[in-house]
Amino acid sequence: MKSALRPRRWHVIGFSLLVMGTFGTPAAAQQAAARPTPTFSTDVAPILQRSCMSCHRQGSIGPMALTSYEEARPWARAVRQKVMAREMPPWYIDRRVGITRFKDDPSLTDEEIDTIVRWVDGGVPRGNPADMKPNPNFADQGLWHIGKPDVVVTMPKDLIVAAAAPDQWRDVMVDPGLTEDRWLMAVETKPTKGWRVVHHAVTTLVAPDGTSATDLGSRLLNEYALGKNEDVFPEGSARLIKAGSKINFNVHLHSIGEEMPANVEVGFKFYPKGYQPKYVADIIPVAGSELDIPPNTDNVRVDSYFRLKTPVRVLSFQPHMHNRGKAMCVEAILPGDGVPSIEHGDPIVPLSCVDRYQFAWHIAYHYAEDVQPLLPAGTVLHITAWHNNTASNKFNPDPNQHVTFGQRTVDDMSFAWMKFLYLSEDDYKQQLAERKSRQTQNQQ
Ligand code: HEC
Repeated sequence: MKSALRPRRWHVIGFSLLVMGTFGTPAAAQQAAARPTPTFSTDVAPILQRSCMSCHRQGSIGPMALTSYEEARPWARAVRQKVMAREMPPWYIDRRVGITRFKDDPSLTDEEIDTIVRWVDGGVPRGNPADMKPNPNFADQGLWHIGKPDVVVTMPKDLIVAAAAPDQWRDVMVDPGLTEDRWLMAVETKPTKGWRVVHHAVTTLVAPDGTSATDLGSRLLNEYALGKNEDVFPEGSARLIKAGSKINFNVHLHSIGEEMPANVEVGFKFYPKGYQPKYVADIIPVAGSELDIPPNTDNVRVDSYFRLKTPVRVLSFQPHMHNRGKAMCVEAILPGDGVPSIEHGDPIVPLSCVDRYQFAWHIAYHYAEDVQPLLPAGTVLHITAWHNNTASNKFNPDPNQHVTFGQRTVDDMSFAWMKFLYLSEDDYKQQLAERKSRQTQNQQ
């Protein structure tokens, strides 16, 4: 197993980029002919309700609404093209590598894509409007999903987004005045104004002076993106916010043809004072700062490593690169003889790959509960990032630039935010045993 995994993973990335264009082959068309044409009311609307309408409705960030037959009809060709290319909904995980089940996964199955394709190719029939289930209620957009927060931190001034401007990424630092360390039960970031222009808002914790735990001097706190706002830590687990921490809001703004003010807030729910969580949750950037991307070069690879001092349960993977980012994989190099290294031939377990990275979409991929990786102490997390600094990358502002690590979006980065629960040795063994016994039961 171990020797086969590495080359295969490389293969998979190249392969999945290739197959994108060849979906919907004559074989699929033949199959389609044999089955009745799907209708909007019965077959297509449920897909749009689950995976598209959170963004594609009046007042949201999608450029058009897709909440009714009348609205979707003129976009049918574009919808067909975007779902076949797996560009919509935004979800760029390579579904053939490593862990394939996630929480709140909006992506479409092959069958759902096939349904949309056959609906469009079959002349976009409406079906019986009475068969369409009611759309979800999106009225709770402005409400807190975590319940009433104990503390709300808001940006002091609105950001004004001009009617026409390139996408902007703005940083605003706020001191919430926390005078003591507190354990976080839940956190949520959301716009209060200008929903349509706020693509993403990422809040990071900036540690008090001198206690910065990472090279970046800050840690991801929470991220707002439509359809997944809140972060509620699993029961008994919590994240620590140190007294004196500041909050940085990083807001991705997108002009929509009219001037619009935007603002963002973050809400915290704390455990009672004096509470001690069983598990500590944390987010670590597995970072490679040695970034050297020559001009006009594709597939520039950089590797980053992070050694786990304690066992962990991995909750999520979130790649972070900038405009030249192309693909990223994370794998776990398990400790074999106590000295984890590739040379020693330790088992290497692929966890996830994002094969079509898009800087405009910061997506945290949260693993489904029963497949969250359980990793022993001594495991090395290995992140491989690939950048494309050629004109073939449509997001590349200038392929003639030599690009290195930096905060500006014209610089680049190559790290992954990995969210864990730290486990004790006993808890690790127990959780592993429980999972193994469940797997054996399922096989019987
Ligand atoms: C998280 C928000 C979000 C979700 C979910 C989403 N979209 Fe989009 N969609 C956007 C945004 C923003 C754009 C415009 C920018 C871009 O293309 O990235 C867009 C663009 C599009 C376009 C291109 C429109 C044009 O101007 O040509 C189509 C077609 C589309 N989406 C269809 C869909 C379909 C179908 C789904 C569900 C299967 C979906 N989208 C899910 C946000 C979303």
